[in-house]
Amino acid sequence: MFDAAMSLVGSAPDPISIDEFRSRQSRLLSQIGNDEIVILCSSPETIHSNDVHHPYRSQSDMIYLTGWYEPESVMLAEYIDSEWIITLFVQPKDTLKEIWEGRRPGVEGALSKWAVDSAYSIDELSDKLGEAINNCSKVYHQMGVRTDIDSIVSDAIQLRGRARQMNGTGPVGVEDPSSKIAELRLRKSSAEIEQMRHACFVSSIAHEAAMRSSMSGRTENQIQAIIEGFFVFAGTSGWAYPSIVGCGENATILHYKENDSVCGDDEIILIDAGSEFRGYASDITRSWPISGKFTEPQRELYQLVLDSQEAAIAECRVGNPFNAPHEAAKRVLAEGLIKLGVITQSLEDSLDHDNGQLRDWYMHNTSHWIGLDVHDVGIYKPNGEPRLFESGMCLTVEPGLYFGSWRPDVDCPERYSNIGIRIEDDVLITDNGPEVLTSACPKTIADIESIVGKSF
Ligand code: GLY
Ligand code: MN
Ligand code: MN
Repeated sequence: MFDAAMSLVGSAPDPISIDEFRSRQSRLLSQIGNDEIVILCSSPETIHSNDVHHPYRSQSDMIYLTGWYEPESVMLAEYIDSEWIITLFVQPKDTLKEIWEGRRPGVEGALSKWAVDSAYSIDELSDKLGEAINNCSKVYHQMGVRTDIDSIVSDAIQLRGRARQMNGTGPVGVEDPSSKIAELRLRKSSAEIEQMRHACFVSSIAHEAAMRSSMSGRTENQIQAIIEGFFVFAGTSGWAYPSIVGCGENATILHYKENDSVCGDDEIILIDAGSEFRGYASDITRSWPISGKFTEPQRELYQLVLDSQEAAIAECRVGNPFNAPHEAAKRVLAEGLIKLGVITQSLEDSLDHDNGQLRDWYMHNTSHWIGLDVHDVGIYKPNGEPRLFESGMCLTVEPGLYFGSWRPDVDCPERYSNIGIRIEDDVLITDNGPEVLTSACPKTIADIESIVGKSF
């Protein structure tokens, strides 16, 4: 099955170029004073059990600015002799460690293959960083990623009085660079969009493979294995976030994680799963009947969610406020639920955030930014007002309806008992309107009914 699915996936795009990393660095550093420095740390490894670590993934800002993916690494940007110098401190080559733990690019690799001007062993960090901090007026550093580096920075700030007395220099403050980097990350370059398109395409085909392998008696984990197996088979680094695979009433739990129930013929399965490719996330949800045929109540709700999603996607246009898709989705859902007799309030009352009935069945937001993080960086309301869409921004559009009859807080209509539906796509804002990056993933009732349970 994977070979047939793979034949649909095109070749991977070129990786992000050295020139692009240089341009990202320049755009950040053009906002930094020549007597200031920037420090970025890769996140530390975390323990799974005893001496086994969780699979390592570095911090997204580090990946964005350097492409460097190893743990125990620090980037330093400082202005020396009329130019910005980017230095990476990395784990040095070490044959014994590499025999056990895998290859390391080391100092030589960093210098020859990454967009940096100089590189040192991480063992030299403390001395060199101390010197750089004492010679600058301000440190851009995100506290809380690496406590040992936080200490170097805060010790230097505390001692600044002494350094200033001796040399007339020394940092006077620390600022988090994350918000400046987030503004850059929010607008995707064409090379980034290519990486995201590939992640989205692989995930779309993975969902199709899961639809084709669905049948009564399969467990949620078995369908999860198809999706995640294909992520890896297709050459991505695997899931961008833990997959949600819930059948029947499990589909009404937004972040269901057990994924261990047996799927019944009369149930809808909701799968929220996306791969990560070269650090870039994709995020797709599809919901389909295990039998391959929607029952009438399932069809009513599915078509309503799909209509709301299409209305929301149509709002993903340059100049529209970030909340426009959410408002559009809510309005279509509320109108539909009034027609179906589920909502008894007026349209406007039903949309009220505190007392509206829509929130009983649709309780989450419609969109989030997506990029290197699945819930990507970027302020939604920069000055208290929703941000206006610009070309190059990427977001999800993911309305849903969740009729959990197990919930004590609501009176679930019997007709829709334990039906959970979410439809989620990843959308790129372009000057020509919305581009759905996940459009290869089957979504209409007709497409789904022609695919579920059928081989490629
Ligand atoms: N997969 C989490 C989300 O859709 O936001
Ligand atoms: Mn999702
Ligand atoms: Mn999402």
